[in-house]
Amino acid sequence: MKTVISEMLSQQINKELFSAYLYLEFHNILEDKGLKGFAHWFMIQVQEERDHALLFYEYLHHNNQKATLNAIEKPETTVSTVMEILEASLAHEEFITASINDIYEVALREKDYRTKEFLDWFVKEQGEEEANFHELIDNVNLLGEDSRGLYMLDRELASRVYVAPSLTVS
Ligand SMILES: [Fe+2]
Repeated sequence: MKTVISEMLSQQINKELFSAYLYLEFHNILEDKGLKGFAHWFMIQVQEERDHALLFYEYLHHNNQKATLNAIEKPETTVSTVMEILEASLAHEEFITASINDIYEVALREKDYRTKEFLDWFVKEQGEEEANFHELIDNVNLLGEDSRGLYMLDRELASRVYVAPSLTVS
């Protein structure tokens, strides 16, 4: 594996762990607001991001590469409403999609087809992450000032179940 690829994969570990940290902060805010369903939904998101980070980590070691573990940035804390949290999450997922696309581009250029194949799962996963946040934003938009509706949506989100990633490295 070329150094440029392994460095980008190490940076991706950091970005995925930052995602987990960001969503943990959103859980923190939502739990504090008493929106337990939304908070629960974000806690599952935290677990998914941790899984993503570990997949990149395991993939590096599977290719005899040592990961570089850098400091994780402090998460954004300026958001407060549910809509602000959802919009910040969507913007963050778009940033992650762009980051994965960048690695994909370099993998193709360097003819690293194994990494390209590994990344295929993440390309699809990012499509799902963005769609999830678009759907939540649409739902909350439809509710507007309807606090009873928000309460119902919160109850519905409480039923989200953690599912381990379908991708395995070894
Ligand atoms: Fe992720």
